[in-house]
Amino acid sequence: MDEQNWAALSAIAQPLLFWYDRGARILPWRSNPTPYYVWVSEIMLQQTRVEAVKPYFDRFVREIPDIGALCAVDDAALMKLWQGLGYYNRARNLKKAGQIILECHGGSFPQDYDAIRALPGIGDYTAGAIASIAFGQAVSAVDGNVLRVFARLLGSGVDVTRPAVKRQFAAQIQRFIPRRRPGDFNQALMELGATLCLPNGQPRCGECPLMRLCRAYALGIADTLPVKPPKKPRRREELTVFVLRDGQRRIALRPRPDTGLLAGTWEYPNVPGRLTRAQAARQLRQWGLPAAQLRALAPAKHVFTHVQWHMCGYEVSFADVIPAPTGWIWCGADEIRDRYAIASAFRSFTDTLDPGAP
Ligand code: ADE
Repeated sequence: MDEQNWAALSAIAQPLLFWYDRGARILPWRSNPTPYYVWVSEIMLQQTRVEAVKPYFDRFVREIPDIGALCAVDDAALMKLWQGLGYYNRARNLKKAGQIILECHGGSFPQDYDAIRALPGIGDYTAGAIASIAFGQAVSAVDGNVLRVFARLLGSGVDVTRPAVKRQFAAQIQRFIPRRRPGDFNQALMELGATLCLPNGQPRCGECPLMRLCRAYALGIADTLPVKPPKKPRRREELTVFVLRDGQRRIALRPRPDTGLLAGTWEYPNVPGRLTRAQAARQLRQWGLPAAQLRALAPAKHVFTHVQWHMCGYEVSFADVIPAPTGWIWCGADEIRDRYAIASAFRSFTDTLDPGAP
């Protein structure tokens, strides 16, 4: 990529930081950027918008205030705190990383970039964000927002989804990170991407502090950048979900498989495919459950990154208290609210139970 164009961009730091100082959002992790707070917030922000993260972050650090508490937290309680945020592996990796910090770094968050990068759940972007925001190190932190900002500043039609492009952007940005304020510089870029340099043809160039330095703006092509190849369509999966109640109105839950989508959470028993009432009744027999009335529930859809679930559901109320099939549990509404993490994908089937998002 054109060295000349990159060299011109060292001029962005001053107007960017001026803009950031005047209008940066007040965010809970910004007022006290300890390594732990920055780490937790950056993990939560990996796939989730700032507004959605705020209440989760506040509750998380209230309940788990430091790395020692993170290592000691019960897995179920951890998942419950994450319920509704999605990408539950992030929470499992937080705890794993906490244990490594305790065992290998004496309980203090490591400052060395490579040691940070080696922790579970931490990639180049998150390592850069933590090193710069929490430790003042001049390393770049290039996420999707930052790629978009620079593709536009450069007026470049490169495919920003290519890892080589990301590496190259990170190396170039690293050269002009202001040594006195690396964390603020990185956060200002993220902030610009999240509030003005918006995706999907929506950039608010008229308000941008970097307008005069932006090639895409000068060329009138900001809304066409960045260039990304078309996404593969999501796989579609059909599912039939069973809300089973025993004679005490308790509900049957079972754990999701240990690996893969939603690992670590609980679910209502379900099977692939859209079952008719007769097929659903047969499924109950296969589970060793007694015959009972089935009530069809409203169908629901949930979109994950690579797959889309189309769900239909049946509510089944048994007259008696019956043994749960192996691995399943019968849970009261209170326990479901307070103890068991059930993914948002099932929310429409749990609405009446108060799924407990903060
Ligand atoms: N997105 C990811 N990290 C962020 C941060 N520190 N500030 C604003 N948006 C972000």
